[in-house]
Amino acid sequence: MSRSIDQTSPITLSSDAIKQGLRTRWLGQPAIFSFDVVESTNTEANRLAQEGAPEGTLIVAEAQTKGRGRLGRTWVSPPGSGLYLSIILRPAHPADWLPRLTLTAGVAVASAIRQTGTTPQLKWPNDILIADRKVGGILTEAVFDRRRIDFALLGIGINVNTEQEELPVSIRNLATSLRLGLGKTVSRLHLLQALLYQFEQWYESLNTGNFAAILETWSEFDTTLGRVVEVFLPEKKVVGVAEALQSDGTLLVRDKRDHLHRIVAGDVVHCRLDLSSDLKA
Ligand code: BTN
Repeated sequence: MSRSIDQTSPITLSSDAIKQGLRTRWLGQPAIFSFDVVESTNTEANRLAQEGAPEGTLIVAEAQTKGRGRLGRTWVSPPGSGLYLSIILRPAHPADWLPRLTLTAGVAVASAIRQTGTTPQLKWPNDILIADRKVGGILTEAVFDRRRIDFALLGIGINVNTEQEELPVSIRNLATSLRLGLGKTVSRLHLLQALLYQFEQWYESLNTGNFAAILETWSEFDTTLGRVVEVFLPEKKVVGVAEALQSDGTLLVRDKRDHLHRIVAGDVVHCRLDLSSDLKA
């Protein structure tokens, strides 16, 4: 994108402002719903999708009162400083295809953020980091018809111009914003337009069977592979080295007994200490 993503654009994300200069072919083209405040853009997206809203419908809010993260967490969504959006998708795929969508969105978000002048890191499966602190996250939800996806809701949250004081004390040393990382204000509008453009491109790669290209780009941003990780699964915890991503996007973790665990979904914690000697013991 040739245009700068520095702050030069309108303060509010109205649907008219978003449409102007949007270079997508279908994403955001059926309709853009722009709200001052909602409980959660994913909740709005679900309502609209149940009513039949087509693929590419975009929901954006200035603030969320009940922003959701993965695993029942809260996504703090103060007004006017972050990007909070959901995209309705209707992929003709079985349920086990969904993790690919999250990784694809991560690549799109990272590619768009890179245009602001900083290269983010991707932490498997859904976190976007700057200098090891969380700046964005992806929440993929779906409704199924038997074992196939009826519709998917791709929720994306990015702390763009969020100030330290807007983040809860409990996460201040774990989270950041683009502005805090870059030391300058970033245009939410231009970042959103860049993100939509990137996602459309990568989603088309995904749909034409080129997930390998997405994984290759993921690895340019990856910060999980090669690390010692703790993976919290519903029934157990796995500790080991994150060894590789498989061709379907699942994570392979090798534990100290040399067992390989294939992680489809879970809460991954990067261990700060180098436990590799412990792992080899
Ligand atoms: C995570 O990191 O756990 C995912 C965070 C996803 C937050 C976004 S903000 C827009 C959309 N609406 C929500 O309620 N959540 C997602």
